[in-house]
Amino acid sequence: AEKGLKDYYKAFFPVGVAVGPSALKGPEAALILQQFNSLTPENAMKMGPIHPDSTRYFWNDADAIVSFAQAHQQRVRGHNLCWHEQTPRWLFRNPDGSTVSKARLLKRLHDHIDTVVKRYKGKLYAWDVVNEAIADNPQEFLRNSEWLKICGEDFIAEAFRYAHAADPKAVLFYNDYNTERPEKMERVYKLLKQLKDAKVPVHGVGLQGHWSLQEPSEKELRTTIERFASLGLQVQITELDVSVYPWEKEKRARRPDESDAYTSEMQQRQAEQYRMFFKVFRDYPKVITGVTFWNISDKYTWLDTYPVAGRKNYPLLFDQQLKPKKAFYEVVKF
Ligand code: XIL
Repeated sequence: AEKGLKDYYKAFFPVGVAVGPSALKGPEAALILQQFNSLTPENAMKMGPIHPDSTRYFWNDADAIVSFAQAHQQRVRGHNLCWHEQTPRWLFRNPDGSTVSKARLLKRLHDHIDTVVKRYKGKLYAWDVVNEAIADNPQEFLRNSEWLKICGEDFIAEAFRYAHAADPKAVLFYNDYNTERPEKMERVYKLLKQLKDAKVPVHGVGLQGHWSLQEPSEKELRTTIERFASLGLQVQITELDVSVYPWEKEKRARRPDESDAYTSEMQQRQAEQYRMFFKVFRDYPKVITGVTFWNISDKYTWLDTYPVAGRKNYPLLFDQQLKPKKAFYEVVKF
């Protein structure tokens, strides 16, 4: 069989991809098996999808991904256990509509983590336990989410303790975006230092890696990896894609003057970014323990609708026909 990313990177780290249940058949499944040796459920294990009612779990999609992985000797990273987005409607409310108490919310979090982590114990090797808890505003520390408003900062340490108790062998990650921007990096560092000092079972940091033609720079990326390694943490790139548009956080409509052409300059610049990123990853073999792409090919990427609806993006290593792009050849040439 033709060599895939997983083969080129065998001596370094597993190369993963985010998937939904529909990717597990046909040409996309074939590409997954040729290129990747780790899977992350793109949505199926998030609290909203997997725990839609307080008394009911929906396991089908997550189970399908896990059985596919087991049938093909692939690793699985769980994503995620505690986040402010894609939460189920019932989570923060009492039956009468009032806001739940801290004690009740922590019990719900405990029950949720215990149930989900134990179901997949021994089948998942890692979990993103807490996702995106740092504020977007650089002047603030933690995000003012329902979690923070109701529990204060305790929910973060507790989530890790619950996950560790449910599966002591799982590698537990804090996961976030824009972690290479110095102001964000310092705040993520501060959080992780606090957790380590308090002996909370956190083992790694996930750099989401929603990057672009502009950022991060090589220096920012190296500084970030080294700074987290200094805390004794492993580092994974958990959601890699390289948008051909500059980073933008707010969801908005596409402007009529916005073109979605994928120019040869963009393809060239993107290939250079990918080459630089993977060179840096290879330079830290003891620290970088996994790299996962957020979607399989440019045929479907979450960036087609986020943050701008109706604008096509081309952020991955395979094109809309599932063929390797220029960037692919840069990544495997070393
Ligand atoms: C995204 C999925 O790709 C979309 O399908 C979904 O509509 C929204 O979430 N950071 C994360 C991921 O941690 O869970 C997000 O995934 C992308 C940003």
